Amino acid sequence: MNNIKQIEVRTEFGQCCLLIYLDDFSTGYLTNIEIFKEHRRQGHGNELLETALRIAKQQNLSCVVLQVVADSFVRRWYEKYGFRNLNVYQHSPQEGHIWMTKERKTGLLGR
Ligand SMILES: CC(C)(COP(=O)(O)OP(=O)(O)OC[C@H]1O[C@@H](n2cnc3c(N)ncnc32)[C@H](O)[C@@H]1OP(=O)(O)O)[C@@H](O)C(=O)NCCC(=O)NCCS
Repeated sequence: MNNIKQIEVRTEFGQCCLLIYLDDFSTGYLTNIEIFKEHRRQGHGNELLETALRIAKQQNLSCVVLQVVADSFVRRWYEKYGFRNLNVYQHSPQEGHIWMTKERKTGLLGR
């Protein structure tokens, strides 16, 4: 883990993690975004994602990438925020997952 900067974002409603490889400061990997079950569908997911994107901008990242189940509302949620399918080939893709990216040049923040 020494070459990875790990920024954990925690609120009382949920959490996520931004991983930045120190040999490539330009890309952040957004992982494990989760709102605790009893707090879902009250807007906390939007708040958490926006907080993570704000941190990505503060860290001066060029892009944020993530993996998501292709056929899910979560994918459509990310699309609303401007994430697009990377269409990359994976040797051993996790079942039904795709990689998505959101780039600074098109604006890291907002929908
Ligand atoms: C994905 C997750 C973080 C969303 O958190 P949340 O607090 O429920 O989300 P919000 O209430 O802020 O809603 C965000 C958007 O998703 C939509 N949404 C939320 N839950 C939904 C559901 N079950 N079905 C359809 N749409 C849903 C909302 O309508 C909202 O869209 P809008 O802002 O355009 O109206 C939460 O469902 C979760 O923790 N899921 C389990 C972990 C997971 O799947 N993480 C994603 C890994 S890639």
